[in-house]
Amino acid sequence: MQILTGKEVAEKVYETLQSDCNAFVEKYGFPPTLAVILVGTDPASQSYVQGKKQACLSLGFGHRDYHLDAETSQDELLELIHTLNNDPSVHGILVQMPLPPHLDADLVIQNIKVEKDVDGFHPQNVGNLLIGKPGFISCTPLGVLHILDYYALSCEGKHVVVLGRSNIVGKPMASLLMQKGRDATVTICHSKTEELEQITKQADILIAAIGKPLFVTESMVKEGCIVIDVGINRVEDPSRKRGYRLVGDVDYEHVAPHCKAITPVPGGVGVMTIAMLMKNTMQAALQLAQ
Ligand code: GUN
Repeated sequence: MQILTGKEVAEKVYETLQSDCNAFVEKYGFPPTLAVILVGTDPASQSYVQGKKQACLSLGFGHRDYHLDAETSQDELLELIHTLNNDPSVHGILVQMPLPPHLDADLVIQNIKVEKDVDGFHPQNVGNLLIGKPGFISCTPLGVLHILDYYALSCEGKHVVVLGRSNIVGKPMASLLMQKGRDATVTICHSKTEELEQITKQADILIAAIGKPLFVTESMVKEGCIVIDVGINRVEDPSRKRGYRLVGDVDYEHVAPHCKAITPVPGGVGVMTIAMLMKNTMQAALQLAQ
């Protein structure tokens, strides 16, 4: 059984980004810059936003932090986005999700300039991905592709089962894998899927992205399957300093012995998401600076 350590893959990505960033600064005299907007105080979101800031700082990217009050109005948020859209020193704009319920996430995403949508959430970027002409690709599915490529795990002709149909992971993941060049046969399952276990057991590659801790058990996987665990779930654990530990959507301990290869949590897909965000920001900066 092979452990697919995202950390190792991310380190390689960061090495390349470091030299790309140095060359960019040398050429243009300013760094690729990411603006991150967080509305409210959700602890998980705060920790993700902090991780993105750290990545920017360690690579020498520029970073703008906007921590807005939970009561921020739709208009105030859109105004900030428009200001950043028109600021030539900002190349990537990310609004941390989820937003408080009074804000319309779809409208917010639609207002981010397509060329600065480093999350790949804008409908135009989503549509371009679907027709096989990707601009910015959502960071987590892009990270999964990088892991598969790094470990030379081909999807060609394989049955890939994606558990989860979110706009951020499940849908773009399925779309990427079925493209020409990847050539997987893709099945998407979700909370209403009947006979789930019978479908997941057919998977050569199983991608779990449903946000339910330890959901995938050993009876759901085929012997020799490749398992990619996208889940990052906090479960209470008083023995830990923080009072919780992170687990994936997969019951790693019991599933791993049956796998050909599997990603751990933490240290698997999660670390790749931020690496891909930095890669997208680099791409945005290069395109905008032309
Ligand atoms: N919330 C959870 N994952 C993500 C992500 O990749 N981007 C944004 N903006 N919000 C998230």
